Amino acid sequence: MVDCIGFEIDDEICVIVMNNPPVNALGAQMRQELDRALDRAEAHPGVKAIVIAAEGRGFSAGADIKEFGRPAAAPSLPELCNRIEACSKPVVAAIHGMALGGGIELALAAHYRVAHGTAKVGLPEVTLGLIPGAGGTQRTPRLAGAVVALELMTDGRPLSARRASELGLLDYLVTPLGQEWPGPAQEVLSGAVAYAKQLVADGKGPRPTRQINDRMGDFMVYHAAVDTFREAAKDSHSMAPGKIADCVEAALLLPLDAAMQFERTAFEDCLASPASQGLRHAFLAERLAGKFGGVDGVQPRKIGEVGIVGGGLMGAGIAVACLDAGYGVTVAEKGVEAMEKAEDRIVAIYGRALGRKKLDEATLTDRLARLTMCDSLNPLAAADLIIEAIPEDMAAKADLFAALGRLAKPRTILASNTSYLNVDALARQSDRLADVIGLHFFAPAHRQKLLEVVVAEHTAPDVVATALSLAKRMGKVPVRSGVTDGFIGNRILTAYRTAADHLVEEGATPYQVDAAMRDFGFAMGPYQVLDMSGLDNSWARRKRLARDRDPSERYVAIGDMMCQAGWFGQKTARGYYVYSKAAPRGAESPDTLALIDSYRAERNITPREVDGKEIRHRCLLAMIAEGARLLDEGIAQRPSDIDVVMLLGFGFPRWRGGPMKQADMMGLLTLRNALLRLVPEAPQLWAPSPILNELIKNGQSFGDLNR
Ligand code: 3HC
Repeated sequence: MVDCIGFEIDDEICVIVMNNPPVNALGAQMRQELDRALDRAEAHPGVKAIVIAAEGRGFSAGADIKEFGRPAAAPSLPELCNRIEACSKPVVAAIHGMALGGGIELALAAHYRVAHGTAKVGLPEVTLGLIPGAGGTQRTPRLAGAVVALELMTDGRPLSARRASELGLLDYLVTPLGQEWPGPAQEVLSGAVAYAKQLVADGKGPRPTRQINDRMGDFMVYHAAVDTFREAAKDSHSMAPGKIADCVEAALLLPLDAAMQFERTAFEDCLASPASQGLRHAFLAERLAGKFGGVDGVQPRKIGEVGIVGGGLMGAGIAVACLDAGYGVTVAEKGVEAMEKAEDRIVAIYGRALGRKKLDEATLTDRLARLTMCDSLNPLAAADLIIEAIPEDMAAKADLFAALGRLAKPRTILASNTSYLNVDALARQSDRLADVIGLHFFAPAHRQKLLEVVVAEHTAPDVVATALSLAKRMGKVPVRSGVTDGFIGNRILTAYRTAADHLVEEGATPYQVDAAMRDFGFAMGPYQVLDMSGLDNSWARRKRLARDRDPSERYVAIGDMMCQAGWFGQKTARGYYVYSKAAPRGAESPDTLALIDSYRAERNITPREVDGKEIRHRCLLAMIAEGARLLDEGIAQRPSDIDVVMLLGFGFPRWRGGPMKQADMMGLLTLRNALLRLVPEAPQLWAPSPILNELIKNGQSFGDLNR
């Protein structure tokens, strides 16, 4: 095992350096080595003060999230923090980069804190459904006041070093030199060692944070703040915000050791809560998703110039995403008018960013200087990557890929932004099988973090590696998908909608379904989304797939009948809902209900009572069953990738972790039995796939496949 800790004594100052890449997480080995290093430093007669610093990107990202749920090896993080605070020699934390969660808690337990001017500090535990559990809820109010501590910990966003210093969390800031060498880690270390020497020279000893009792503020002021906060947080699905408020209250009222114990119990309650399990799963799943098989060590192709065909909503968003990532971008449209409209869309996106102060004029000028608009494909001949973003029409896309195959220079990557269509077929059209890939962006493409990377049968590994580096540069989370109609996300969406349609056919109203799924945690129900995205789009897909549909498959034609009546949703002011000036977000439509009634009557269906619980249960089961199928077919690499797609692309509630995480939480045997009960109603939708039986037989869960 490689040591995580460096230990050096420099003229009365002992420097302990944490070195546990990539983020200096405070796992068991690190805690044990830190503990031993502190013993050594404390026992050394020549050491007068101790500096705890770090190598690498930052001070520390906190507790090791991967260790949660496993038996904790001693010392625990709270024990280590208490041990630092109890040290008989002054301890100075030297912070650069990020000090987050347990990382800043460790620094708050030190007696003094020196930070590099570019550092960021924060307590983001709440985003994982947790509370700071290593004394953060006790030491933060002692340094910054109870109300500020509450705001900081329930917000979770990191603060700049300057702001943290103003709030009393940091003692001294090292001015950045602004040059690559020696870099922030060394600059802050030098500053902290000088600070420690000065402490020794001034005869200043340890200053335990627990003894600072004059900054917490008045209890009644806190009480008023917490009442407002509790009202605002009452709909939170996570228990963490409320527990944070309780712990800060405990800081004001209880002796410190009792309040620390209170914090520990609250932390453990949060750790065991379903919401935290879902949120921690989401965090790790997003990071795992970017690890694609078969590309380790493969050199990506060099991309400088990106061509985009189509400047509609998607094309304009993709252009902005590429400009923001620093690429040169050429957007091709058909004809001058379409080209000008596309440019207007791009400029409008930047205009809004400017208005919201997300961008300054100089940055905007730089970005637009890298944009070229053209009204034909020819200027794309120089591009290193061409992304097709034209409407979903296979014939038009096939023609385009044939043209791009003739036009593009050798080794140019040809990407399709299709949401459903067959990327293998497009690759064949281009006659450049190895160079073609699917890059499925989500609207608005410049903001949505998800990128489905569709690897076709013959896509070259370096093309896949290039897609990964492109995603990284754009700040997107890439998820690998194989070729199938709708890839990962839209296949699951289809299963979800099918389950919802069955329920409507049997007796539910679309409004009941939408309300139930909002209760589940989606911002909108499936029929609200259909109205928003246009019923004609999914109708076109159903018509395209009709030829291959199994005639024995249960098929609900309500959506088709609505489209035949010209009800396409918001764009026609009529869909599952009716839209008017009085009801811009839609009101229940008596005509739609009448259409559904007559549909049932024609088929002799006597409507039955359907409640919200059944709706949520069936819709979730349908998503899970389809997810399992995607794994069986090898379309998705791992279950957590499916969760990432649903969380980032389709509004699945983050605190639930995604459908496959929900399956594990439900238990796979329970899941399988629930599916088997539904199989007679629609085998295509409900039949459990072999992978489920295999996992059950091996005593495994979907989580065991997340590697
Ligand atoms: N524990 C374990 N692994 C962690 C980690 C942590 N706290 N933080 C990050 N990692 C891992 C990631 O999983 C990733 O692993 P990989 O290399 O295998 O993919 C790697 O470190 C790099 O992470 P990112 O890809 O996220 O790197 P970025 O540079 O984009 O971001 C970061 C760095 C801002 C530190 C970000 O990783 C982050 O926000 N981390 C979580 C911070 C956090 O929530 N800390 C609180 C932890 S809970 C806690 O401390 C409880 C305590 O109060 C008791």
